[in-house]
Amino acid sequence: MDHLFPDKLDNEETFEDFLASAVSRRRNFAIISHPDAGKTTLTEKLLLYGGAIQQAGAVKARGEQRKVTSDWMDLEKQRGISITSTVLQFEYEDITINLLDTPGHQDFSEDTYRTLAAADNAVMLEDAAKGLEPQTRKLFEVCKMRSIPIFTFINKMDRPGLEPLSLLDEIESELGLLTWAVNWPIGSGETFRGVIDRRTKEVVLFSRAERGKQSNERTLKLDDPQLIDLVEEELLSKSLEEIELLEEAGSSMDLELIRAGELTPVFFGSAMTNFGVRPFLDNFLEMAQKPVARNSIDGPIDPLTEGFSGFVFKLQANMDPRHRDRIAFIRVCSGRFEKDMTVRHARTGKTIRLSRPQKIFGKDRSVVDDAYPGDVIGLNNPGMFSIGDTLYVGKRLEYEGIPCFSPEIFSWLRNPNPSAFKNFRKGVNQLREEGAVQILYDKDESKRDPILAAVGQLQLEVVQHRLENEYGVATRLEPMEFQVARWVDGGWPALEKIGRIFNCKTVKDAWSRPVLLFKNEWNLNQLKEDHPRLSLSAVGPVVSGVDPLNL
Ligand code: G4P
Repeated sequence: MDHLFPDKLDNEETFEDFLASAVSRRRNFAIISHPDAGKTTLTEKLLLYGGAIQQAGAVKARGEQRKVTSDWMDLEKQRGISITSTVLQFEYEDITINLLDTPGHQDFSEDTYRTLAAADNAVMLEDAAKGLEPQTRKLFEVCKMRSIPIFTFINKMDRPGLEPLSLLDEIESELGLLTWAVNWPIGSGETFRGVIDRRTKEVVLFSRAERGKQSNERTLKLDDPQLIDLVEEELLSKSLEEIELLEEAGSSMDLELIRAGELTPVFFGSAMTNFGVRPFLDNFLEMAQKPVARNSIDGPIDPLTEGFSGFVFKLQANMDPRHRDRIAFIRVCSGRFEKDMTVRHARTGKTIRLSRPQKIFGKDRSVVDDAYPGDVIGLNNPGMFSIGDTLYVGKRLEYEGIPCFSPEIFSWLRNPNPSAFKNFRKGVNQLREEGAVQILYDKDESKRDPILAAVGQLQLEVVQHRLENEYGVATRLEPMEFQVARWVDGGWPALEKIGRIFNCKTVKDAWSRPVLLFKNEWNLNQLKEDHPRLSLSAVGPVVSGVDPLNL
């Protein structure tokens, strides 16, 4: 995709100023939501403002588009690959926006969490009729770990929904996030009349457009006498009363708290009718943080550091035997990336020339010439990159790795053919290194088969498929009944201290750390009650400098 606003160093400018301007013109975010909340619809509308859909060849009747997408997904599913696009880049009002795609539905996997490790901001999308849903809560926890700013869009206001005040209350009490409503709805569902912008004191009127067509957004001042002819008095006064309540008891706009991930601006709208999407985008661009410093093992690295650096947050293998390419996705963290540049690979110390960098937009790929902090590039990966690897130019640096996220599906992986053991071992070790799946081992060393631990079912299918096609080993999965995993803080000594424990299985991860597996949350809570001093984590911290166990 061509840049509408090319980043070109002009003669007068120093590289420092140039880089500072490229960084200040970038915003990067991921959408966190539960399936069906409207992520695809909102993404389409956002891309429309950036004029990017046309370039991606994606403007089609919705039905047709759905078909195209699902055909593609079925094909990909047959190949067993984690799907669709990884990043969508578009330009809007002189800003380059990178939307990092968080795979959902059947493709939900550890990649979904890892993508959040590369994002600087998150948009939390809720269905007004459902409020917070399980997948959103899980993704929120990952955002919270890094304290990234969260912008909430309450969608489907054209349909009957929950009370707006209780939607805010749910976010505050269950996620521990303060809320600040930027606009406030007048009515909902059949009686949805629009929103009141709390800052401009304007009413943006909603007119029910034909399904799929854009609604007209007419704006009137709150004191405009015409308003009483357009909005029922009862609805308007209810909305105004609620705003008054928010003014008295709610939080107020505080950019510092937003940037610290402690307060979320909330917007009400309807993505399908394109109501409230543009104001959302405008406000988002004003309040979201530009690419920020990232932590390396020696402290934070400023994006304006001259030398290029970045880290691998996702690996994707194409299963098509004719194009068995593998791509490593790199989040650029500092400096300028240029095509053909030579970089250092921190883990191995090797020097690599990056000759075929790609920008991937949906199915289309184009070669990138340069990229800046907040951008994502795809590199061909002939097996040299692992999740979390750092690439850099200049002074040696290594970014803090990406942790292991709590798996929810567990299965023994059996190799029925002992003569294929060598290939089995090689395949399992390589797939673990790539981050396709987590590998756990029984504490009892006589049980040598690996336990696959995944966030989504697709991950297990990918592993089996790849073992068979790339390593020639047909394996058998034997599902285990567990659903919850927790790492033990303090490791084996902490576990030994509490003595015998019940209703859970103790296994070890690839770094020999104890992990407890539970059949359900209830058993986990029981253990916590029985042993209040035992501290458990849902996320396996990064281990650096220690080689993992191999099969
Ligand atoms: P997802 O990616 O989060 O899974 O959600 P997606 O955008 O696919 O939307 C899920 C369903 O919700 C779709 O309906 C979509 O049209 C609908 N939807 C999204 N935003 C709004 C909104 O603001 N108002 C209303 N009323 N509906 C909305 P569908 O019936 O599954 O598909 P389709 O037949 O509309 O294509």
